[in-house]
Formats: sequence, C-alpha cells, structure tokens
Amino acid sequence: MKTHLLIPAAGMGRRLGKDLPKALVPLRGEALLLATLKRFAFPWIAMPVIVLFPRGHEAEFRKVLASYPIPVELVEGGGERQDSVMRGLRFIKGEANLVAIHDAARPFVSPEDISAVVEAAERHGAATLAMPVADTILMNDGGGFLHNTPDRSLLWACQTPQVFQIDVIRAAYGWAGENGTLCTDDATLVYRSGHAVKLVRGSASNFKITTGSDLQYADFLMEHGFS
Ligand code: CTP
Ligand code: MG
Repeated sequence: MKTHLLIPAAGMGRRLGKDLPKALVPLRGEALLLATLKRFAFPWIAMPVIVLFPRGHEAEFRKVLASYPIPVELVEGGGERQDSVMRGLRFIKGEANLVAIHDAARPFVSPEDISAVVEAAERHGAATLAMPVADTILMNDGGGFLHNTPDRSLLWACQTPQVFQIDVIRAAYGWAGENGTLCTDDATLVYRSGHAVKLVRGSASNFKITTGSDLQYADFLMEHGFS
C-alpha cells in the first residue's frame, strides 16, 4: 500500500543553537534533512514527499534538496510543530491511504522499524514508534520539588515515524482546530481526538538530535559506519 511521507523540518533548533535551521545542519558533510530522507528509500512511498521548511529559508532548502532524486513538495511550516504538520497535510493529494510523519531530526531510523510502524497503522489506523524508558521518571511540581514518580513499566518515550490513515489524522486535526488542543506529537493529538494509537517498540538508535551532544553522538555513529 502506498504511503505518503511528511517531514516536519521547519524548526529552528534553538536547543542546538546553530546559526541555521536544524534540518540544514551538516552531519559528516551532508544536511541532516538529506540523511533522514535517505532512510525512506522504499518503493511504496507516494510522491512527492512533503517537507516543511521554516519561513525565510526556502532557497537554502531548495539548494540542499537539488541533489535528492525523489520529487519533494516544499511547504512553509508554522510557529509550532503542529502548525507545520497541519500545513503539510493540506498538500496530501493522491491515492495513498496512509501518511507517515517523521521528524527531520531523526536520521537513524531503521527500515525494519519504519516497516513495522506502517504495518501497525494499516491494521489499527494509527501507530507510533516508541521506546520503554530506562530511567525512572520524576515529575517536577513546577517549583523544583519531586511531585510524583509514575510507574516506569508503563512509560514509553515517543519517537517517529508516526503513521496514520489519512482520514484519521485529518479528523484529529479538525478536532484540534475546533478546541485549540496543542501537542508536540501527532499520535497524542490522534489519541486525544478519540482514536486508539498502537505503540510499536522502536530502537534506541532512533533518537532525536536536539542538543549539541546529540549532534556529536550522531557524528560519532556516522564516522563509525552506522547504517
Ligand atoms: N518542527 C517543525 N515546525 C516547527 C517546530 C518543529 O516542523 N514549528 C520540526 C523540527 O524541524 C523537527 C521536529 O519538528 O524536525 C521535532 O522538533 P524539535 O526537535 O523540537 O526541533 P526544533 O523545534 O527545531 O528544535 P528546538 O525545539 O530546540 O527549537
Ligand atoms: Mg521544538
């Protein structure tokens, strides 16, 4: 079954603190965005791939994507990740029934994990990769004191891709637009809108590049032949 691919890449990477958008930051000489897109070299990806870019940076994104062999629709993103995805969803046209949404900032997702989450979405209508957490998670009361320690065995850290039937994600975004719900990931939005989301166990290597030390680690992995 054909699946659309939507890549939110419209963040500025404030926590990374570089003077260019995070998706354009080079990793072993290649923009992070390209490293991530190359992970999706499947015949079942519907074209064009939709990539969200931050306002004012279209020309740099176009330049980086010039060497990429698959057609890309570049769409201007919004202020929050959710705004970016909402804008991208409007550009989905065509025959495919599913959309995979994957952060530009996760260049190490494996083909096996991508296939597993797509299969789960075919079956359940909505699925996300996620990882059981290793650390005990402490909840801050907002004033710097421990407030609550949730049962670790039930806690999973969110990853992408998150994959949805198109009508399910459209309905969730319609619902969020009506009541002003804002989420940092789409699976949570879909869940809050009333649709079950299957959790598919991912891999630790599918971490999100957020800080300078993540970038250093990513560089180390690439240097040592991670593929
Ligand atoms: N993203 C987006 N539009 C936004 C914000 C984020 O498309 N308005 C994308 C980012 O480009 C990234 C993914 O969502 O691929 C996950 O976001 P995050 O890791 O938070 O990236 P940034 O928002 O760029 O980083 P920061 O929060 O440190 O500024
Ligand atoms: Mg962000």
